[in-house]
Amino acid sequence: MKAKEIRKVACIGAGTIGSSWAAYFLVKGLNVTIQDVNGELIGNSEKRILGFLKSMAEKGIIPMESIASLQNNLTSTTSIAEAVKDVDFIQESTLEKYEIKKGVIEEIDSSARNDIVLSSSSSGLLASKLQEYSRYPGRLVVGHPFNPPHIIPLVEIIKGNADEDAVQCAYDFYKEIGKVPIIINKEVPGHVANRIQAALWRESIDLVMNGVCSVKDVDAAVAFGPGLRWALMGPNMIFNLGGGPGGIEAFFGQFKPAFESWWKDMATWNEFPEGSKEALKEGLKEEMGDRDMQEIAEWRDDKLINLLKILKYV
Ligand SMILES: NC(=O)c1ccc[n+]([C@@H]2O[C@H](COP(=O)([O-])OP(=O)(O)OC[C@H]3O[C@@H](n4cnc5c(N)ncnc54)[C@H](O)[C@@H]3O)[C@@H](O)[C@H]2O)c1
Repeated sequence: MKAKEIRKVACIGAGTIGSSWAAYFLVKGLNVTIQDVNGELIGNSEKRILGFLKSMAEKGIIPMESIASLQNNLTSTTSIAEAVKDVDFIQESTLEKYEIKKGVIEEIDSSARNDIVLSSSSSGLLASKLQEYSRYPGRLVVGHPFNPPHIIPLVEIIKGNADEDAVQCAYDFYKEIGKVPIIINKEVPGHVANRIQAALWRESIDLVMNGVCSVKDVDAAVAFGPGLRWALMGPNMIFNLGGGPGGIEAFFGQFKPAFESWWKDMATWNEFPEGSKEALKEGLKEEMGDRDMQEIAEWRDDKLINLLKILKYV
């Protein structure tokens, strides 16, 4: 299957992630079938998808008038067999449990064409283990999105033991529809982006627990400093530029001892320190001030869309 030939997509499991994927696929002009275990969950998903489409229209990403025609490209079913029959790509987003995904993969295998990619949204399950459940392990990849997939561009493609053709097809397809796919050659717990987030979070918590600064100020240090650059490029390119005309070579020359001394002093724990949750709760109260969660989330989403517009990702 060539990525350019993909017209019909099945979203198996239509919860938070499946519904968001479905809205994104619709916006990209694809025919989408959502599947979930009962009519009520499907109804909820249809409402969520409509909500996502409306919010994208309100933010000027799609015309408001296009919503009805996009909805016409959406079908739903409680049957996996029916959902995957004749589709060109499958995005699986059922519950994050091996035993559930096993049953789902087996059902998909008995009804879907075997020349198409089955991509699992799994945040933490091993691709190689999911592949063991499949009659066609070579066509299964993990295509891990960031929530919400109808907005955030990154998709981590974890190969496990997938065929190169399937990996390439998933990569080309996600790219074709405007995502930023990355390929993870070797499976590791947490894939790549979540590991990086976890490393940063550990140090942030440690700074708070050691009394170095407040929760509010740690967050400010990230959001108003390096975080602004991270929206544009990753740490390697940032430090390449940081070295001036000499690039990363010059950066190593100047900063290697400093980074090594910081690393020696940094947190290495792998269990949350006693009292850390309480400290974060207290600090977050101060950071939130008189704003409530909804207000902060709406502010975040609004600014995020504006940023993605500037970067031309929506
Ligand atoms: N929530 C996130 O932030 C996030 C981010 C990236 C990836 N993911 C991954 O996406 C997947 C789904 O997560 P979610 O947050 O949408 O969960 P969710 O609970 O919101 O949705 C899962 C859906 O799967 C359905 N389901 C359960 N068993 C099923 C079956 N046998 N057949 C079909 N559907 C079935 C459930 O009814 C539910 O609607 C997980 O693998 C998760 O790791 C989640």
